[in-house]
This record gives sequence, C-alpha cells and structure tokens, in this order.
Amino acid sequence: MAIKISVLGSTGTMGGLIIKTALQEGFEVSNKVSSENEISELFDNTDVIVDFSCPIATKTMLEYSFQNKKRIPLIIGTTGLSDDCVDLIKLCCKQTPVFLAPNMSVLISILNLLVYAVGRLLEETFDVEITETHHRFKKDAPSGTALMLGQSVAKSRNKSLRDVAVFERHGIIPQRQQGDIGFSVRRCGKIVGEHEVSFVGDYEEISISHKAFSKEIFAKGAIKTVKWIVAQTPGLYTMNNFTRDMIIPVVKDLYKEFFSFDKIQL
Ligand SMILES: NC(=O)c1ccc[n+]([C@@H]2O[C@H](COP(=O)([O-])OP(=O)(O)OC[C@H]3O[C@@H](n4cnc5c(N)ncnc54)[C@H](OP(=O)(O)O)[C@@H]3O)[C@@H](O)[C@H]2O)c1
Repeated sequence: MAIKISVLGSTGTMGGLIIKTALQEGFEVSNKVSSENEISELFDNTDVIVDFSCPIATKTMLEYSFQNKKRIPLIIGTTGLSDDCVDLIKLCCKQTPVFLAPNMSVLISILNLLVYAVGRLLEETFDVEITETHHRFKKDAPSGTALMLGQSVAKSRNKSLRDVAVFERHGIIPQRQQGDIGFSVRRCGKIVGEHEVSFVGDYEEISISHKAFSKEIFAKGAIKTVKWIVAQTPGLYTMNNFTRDMIIPVVKDLYKEFFSFDKIQL
C-alpha cells in the first residue's frame, strides 16, 4: 500500500512540487491544506505530514498535533519559525517523529559538514562571514540555511550562535569582535538559493559555497525522507540524521586515505 502524505502549503510553490514529486515516486497524496482549509484536515487518514507553508500555519499544525496527542510524523520545511514554534516542536517530538530541515538538499548537508570541519581546523582569528542570496519573494531573513550554517561554525568553536551572530550593519557600527559571525542577505531576481561561508584571515581566505538551480531539489529531498521518517521512533531529526549513513562510511576513513598520500612513490 502506498504511503499517504498530507501536504500543508499545498497551493504554494513548494507544496505544488511536493505533490508532483510524491505522485511521481508512487506515494498517495491524502490531503492538500492551505489557508482555505482547517488544519485538522491534515491529520485525516494519513501516514505523514509534509509542511512547506508559513510560520503561523506551522505553529497551528504543531499545536493541533500536540494538543490532540497525534502520532503522525511531521516533516517541516517551513523556515523563519519563531521560538514558540521551536518550543512546540520540542513537545511534539516526544510523541511523534519530527523532521526539521531548513534546507532539504542533501548537498547542503555536505556543505554543513565541511563548514563544521573548517571551523574546527581554523582558529577564531579567522573572521567568518555568511552570505546568502534568494529570490525577491522570500519572506524571512537570513535564510534558515544561513542560520544553520552559522550554528555549525559556532558549534565548531564551542559557542552559541546567539552570542556571536551579527545581523545588523548600518551607519556607524561597532568594530568587529574576534569570533563574530556576520550575515549578509541579498534578495533579488528569481535566484533559488545561494549560500557562501567565508573564513577570512589576515593573509588568506577559504570560502565554501552551494548554489541551488531548481526548487525541485528541495522537494526531492523532502520526499526522500518520507519512507525514512515513518520508520523512526518519536524524536527530533535533522538532515544530518538522514544523511549520516551515507556520510559516516566516507568520513570515517577519510583521514587514513588522505594521509596515505605521503607514502605514494612517484
Ligand atoms: N526546507 C527547504 O528546503 C525549503 C526550500 C524552499 C522553501 N522553503 C520554505 O518553505 C516555505 C514555503 O515556501 P513557498 O515558496 O512554497 O511559499 P508560497 O509559495 O508563498 O506558499 C505558501 C503556502 O502556505 C500556505 N499558507 C499561508 N498561510 C497559511 C495558513 N495560515 N494556513 C495554512 N496554509 C497557509 C499558502 O496557502 P494560500 O495559497 O491559501 O495562501 C501556500 O500554500 C517557506 O517558509 C520557505 O522558506 C523551505
């Protein structure tokens, strides 16, 4: 029997792609919910809910799920979530699996790992700047992905992003402090999503970047997680949990392989 998916944000750009991809991959779309529907409709006769909507709708879904003790797994792609939403997610994930990813691209998961690794390798004297570019319609800033990348850098330095993030620069600004993580936001054209993390020293710089060419990658990524999340126990899961089986075998032997280059006789 096909897995049944309810879509929150079904009339939106991402919702449309989720429905298209789900049907292509042999899933059933059980409910399509937008601002015209009751949130309770999401939970009718379904195996999993995929949410690409807006923070208010996500909050309503989480409240309904928690208050009615629903055990239907939730895949949340909506970004710009408030602290209230995050608190609700912490409650909901005690009774059902919740998958939360501000970016459903598998490559972003690799970027996140690279950023963390570079953060560990370089000293805090390297200034970190995160730049993101999105289409003119994007409602939240910085993007959820930029914040996630910032969290990885902060974590690699045993810091909390709240303490080191610099979001505002306008007029006369305080001098940059060592360890600050600066964010720059561009909103223009139809750009799907670009992220760059730069580690800038006095004499050199490393920048790591990712560009999404089509929103379909996010829909494909979200639908890939469906079969996986319905098999999980209650808890909070991220893209890192999903990709770890793919990444760990490679990363585990990486340093042995890399340093064995020394022994190669030319
Ligand atoms: N995680 C990722 O990989 C990823 C990738 C791309 C985008 N996103 C995020 O996904 C979200 C949606 O993006 P989008 O480009 O698809 O936006 P969009 O085209 O504006 O669509 C928004 C959807 O949310 C629905 N909605 C708005 N208010 C609602 C309410 N109160 N109750 C129920 N539904 C409501 C809209 O329904 P109506 O038509 O009835 O208003 C519409 O279906 C954004 O937060 C975006 O940042 C995440």
